[in-house]
Amino acid sequence: MFTFTVNGKKKQVDAAPETPLLWVLRDNLGITSVKYACGVAECGMCTVLINGKARRSCVVSVEEARESDITTIEGLPDNHPVKLAWIEKQVPQCGYCQPGIMLQTVDFLSRTPNPSEAQINQAMDDVICRCGSHPRMKQAIVLAAQMTAKQGG
Ligand code: FES
Ligand code: FES
Repeated sequence: MFTFTVNGKKKQVDAAPETPLLWVLRDNLGITSVKYACGVAECGMCTVLINGKARRSCVVSVEEARESDITTIEGLPDNHPVKLAWIEKQVPQCGYCQPGIMLQTVDFLSRTPNPSEAQINQAMDDVICRCGSHPRMKQAIVLAAQMTAKQGG
């Protein structure tokens, strides 16, 4: 039995220790916003925040995640700058990749509050959006950084 917190709520899950967190979130807890694509940490679609850090849940075991604080896209408040900027810039097309990319952005901006274009390009270099939303995604990251600065960080 493994215990952790998901979006502020304590959860207990009975799973084999090596089970990827991705499957526990989706199959045991029904959080299907966490998407599966490559399964080998190459695309970013399964990204969640674990203790505030963006992690690819397809390669994190439930054992590794035990006792941690996990955030999925549902755990970000509606007035979070990343959510507001994503809406303002109308980033998603099909939407499949977006929860993971938005959570990667939250982690990135927490470490890089005033990113340069080069830093944004580098940070988003390892996420795959098959719909090609990268240009809007990058605009939204700039806007989210500006909004965060206005809110006082
Ligand atoms: S499904 Fe985890 S990084 Fe692609
Ligand atoms: S919006 Fe469709 S894969 Fe990114």
